[in-house]
Amino acid sequence: MTQQLIKIRDLKREGDMQAILDIEYRCFPDPYPLSLLNRLREMHPDGFLVAELDGEVVGYIIGVIRWGASGHILAIAVDPPYRRRGIGSALIVNMLDRLKAKGAKGVRLEVRKSNFAARQFYLGLGFNEREEIPYYYEDGEAAVVMTYGYH
Ligand SMILES: CC(C)(COP(=O)(O)OP(=O)(O)OC[C@H]1O[C@@H](n2cnc3c(N)ncnc32)[C@H](O)[C@@H]1OP(=O)(O)O)[C@@H](O)C(=O)NCCC(=O)NCCS
Repeated sequence: MTQQLIKIRDLKREGDMQAILDIEYRCFPDPYPLSLLNRLREMHPDGFLVAELDGEVVGYIIGVIRWGASGHILAIAVDPPYRRRGIGSALIVNMLDRLKAKGAKGVRLEVRKSNFAARQFYLGLGFNEREEIPYYYEDGEAAVVMTYGYH
């Protein structure tokens, strides 16, 4: 039922970036600072999508194209009270479509090895686990590289 009220849209409104920053700080131990988010937006103006529920931003995703054909998801988060309602899936599906339309042949991302919830989430959406990158994060944790191939 809630599903009908979820709207996925581009980042555009005044206050969207602040909403993203608030979610980022609630969801990650090592959040992207505002300066980095702003830089990403300058470099990739259409790389951000937000999920809106009843007019409120409750999640976001950042996805970019690198080297012409390689999609890369840099971040995704859904505000904790709104999880397990399909919002993260809606964000990913929309971003996968967008990256494909921009020429991506595949998409990759890195996820903390201990983030079993996110790994499960991506596996369910058709991503595969590839290699591990040791010491990828500042605190020394390894990343698992996951990839998605368009069919
Ligand atoms: C990962 C995240 C974006 C998922 O968002 P979400 O809106 O809850 O995802 P969905 O409701 O679309 O979940 C789809 C499916 O993914 C799987 N899934 C999602 N969260 C899960 C969890 N905590 N544990 C196990 N499986 C999970 C389930 O199969 C779920 O389907 P179900 O609810 O019918 O069982 C969200 O948990 C989040 O913001 N986490 C913190 C930030 C983060 O870790 N981002 C990824 C960094 S790489």
